[in-house]
Parts: sequence; C-alpha cells; structure tokens
Amino acid sequence: MDKHLFADNILNWYAKNKRDLPWRHTKDPYFIWLSEVILQQTRVKQGLPYYEKFVETYPTVKDLAEADEQSVLRLWQGLGYYSRARNLHAAAKFVHQELADKFPASYQELLKMKGVGKYTASAIASFAYNEKVEVVDGNVFRVLARVFGIATDIASHQGAKEFDALAKSLLPDEQTDEYNQGMMEFGALQCTPQKPNCMYCPMQSGCVAFQQGKQKELPVKIKKLKIKNRYFHYLIFEYQKNDEVFLGMKQRVGKDIWSGLYDFWLEEKSALQNTEALMGESDWAKELTEEWVISKESVAYKHILTHQRIQATFHHIQVPVSQTDQEFFKDLHFFKLDEIVDLPKPVLIDNYLNKNFF
Ligand code: ADE
Repeated sequence: MDKHLFADNILNWYAKNKRDLPWRHTKDPYFIWLSEVILQQTRVKQGLPYYEKFVETYPTVKDLAEADEQSVLRLWQGLGYYSRARNLHAAAKFVHQELADKFPASYQELLKMKGVGKYTASAIASFAYNEKVEVVDGNVFRVLARVFGIATDIASHQGAKEFDALAKSLLPDEQTDEYNQGMMEFGALQCTPQKPNCMYCPMQSGCVAFQQGKQKELPVKIKKLKIKNRYFHYLIFEYQKNDEVFLGMKQRVGKDIWSGLYDFWLEEKSALQNTEALMGESDWAKELTEEWVISKESVAYKHILTHQRIQATFHHIQVPVSQTDQEFFKDLHFFKLDEIVDLPKPVLIDNYLNKNFF
C-alpha cells in the first residue's frame, strides 16, 4: 500500500474512532510517561484507575521523586513487574535531582531515564513533543505484519529491525503524534489479535493478510520462554499481644520476582508439600517447641505470572510473644494487621491476607 494512503487511512480512522482517554488531553511529558509505563503493564481499562491514582497522588515529577519507594510500590500494587515501579521512581529522582525538574525533551535524552527504552522514549517524544519518531508496540507490529504481509518473527532481532524500518518509512511529515497514537489505537480496536474487524476496515483493499486470508497467521511470534513451575510454602509466624494480631513479614530483595514487596517466611521446594513433610526437612522445624502451634494449613493457591506458574500454600504457626525476639526471627519483622494494610505486597499475599485476616 502506498505510504501516503496508509498514513491518511490511519489518521482518518483515528479521528473517527479514538477513545477519549485522559493522557490524550495533555502534552505534559510527565503524565504521558506515567501513562505509557502503566500501559506497558496492562490494558487501557485496567490501567486507567492506576493512571488516575498516580496523577492525583503525584501531580508533578517532583512529587513522585520525593515520595518514598514503599508508597510508590503500594500504589503500583497489582500491576506486577515491580521493577517498573522502582525504575519509575528512580527516573523521577533523576529528573528532579539531576535535571532540576526539567523533563528530558527529546528521544535521545529520554533514553537516559531508567526504565525508558526505545518504545517509551519514542512514545513520549512523539506524543508530548511531536518529534518525528516511529512508535512500535505490539499493536503496531500486528497492523504492519498484516497490511504488508510480513512473516518475519516479531520476537527476533531481524524482525525488530525490519518492522522498525518499515514503521519509520511510513511516518507522515505532519501530525506524527496523532498518527502514532492512531496506529496503536487501530491495532487495539480494529486490527485486533483474535477477531479483526476486516468487514469495516479502511485498509481492506490494500491489506495483504485480508487478501490472502492470513489474519490468523500474522504476525508471527515464536515463543522462546518456557513457563516455570514454582512451589511456595509460606510460613506465617503469628502472635497476639493486647488483643492485636502480629504477623512476621519479610521484605523481598534481589533479582527474583516481587523485589521490594513484603511477603512471609518462604520455603521454596520442587513440589508441593504438606506442613508435616515440610517440617521433616526444614531447619525452622528444629526450633519448634511445644509452645509453637501449627494452627492451620491452607489449600494450594495458583498464581500465574507471565513466565511463572506459582502454587502456594500457607502454614500458620502461633508463637508465644516471649519467643519472638530470638535470633531465629532476625529476618522477619512483626507487623500489626493495620500496619500490614499499608505495606506493598504481591497480589497473592494481599488476597490471602484479605481472606484470612481482614
Ligand atoms: N497503549 C500504550 N500506549 C497507549 C496509549 N497512549 N493509548 C492507548 N493505548 C496505549
């Protein structure tokens, strides 16, 4: 299809069909950045309330920079990939401290922000500054693969290069901001993954996939990552003092999932085990005295992440208050229930707490 016709089709379609979304009413790069980082993580419908919460809680990049990381993670709770939230916070600090609150004003400068890759930098540069850069996300891959009949694997290095070059060559000289938004919106609403609306599509006559009936086969994406099964056994050490319940929690560190969030004492094994079997091979069980009471063992909960399938069980252990300051518990912090509400936690943990303690 001719380049000009393609861009005109997108622009006309977008003018008629675009959704009214809050980040489309602003040119403020800070708000656009927030929306893009959130939308990398979830769909528009689920992302909207998060966007609104962030804008309301942190109306400027300075407010976000000055927040403590825990509050940012708490607000992000439920979106997953918590390193994105930590990068967001780190990048806000960078803009505040190093750039005196002046948001980077070009694609190249935006790339220097933590967590901002090619996609996010081009989205912000295009939408906020109308810089002439191509924005290539999953929607754009799909539209281009279908309209131009390209079967290169979009997950390959070659695919990334090829689609990027095509997207660049198609950019109109004007209204690139609207055009780029339009490409993404066209992919999200019209040229959808499962049931594209080819019947009422302005690209129909020039679309290779439609002409050859290949909508289902394009784009080609070869999956490399295998799903990993993990088995989590959580020990909930619990005591009561003055009618208040305290639970032992631990802030996760390191490179594994949920870094920075709070969960309980975790024993990860290669299969699910009941409390008894777990005790048979664990150091913590040696500490058990008569006064420690195993009060409950939960069913297994399934929790699905992008590349991991977690099954988790929870084992409640009541400990006398007098024994909670011993060396054995040095990695745990005992929190009252109302303190736990405010901690950032994985959704798996939050759900379990809500079901059993709140
Ligand atoms: N997905 C990613 N960025 C988006 C945007 N700006 N509008 C709608 N959906 C999006």
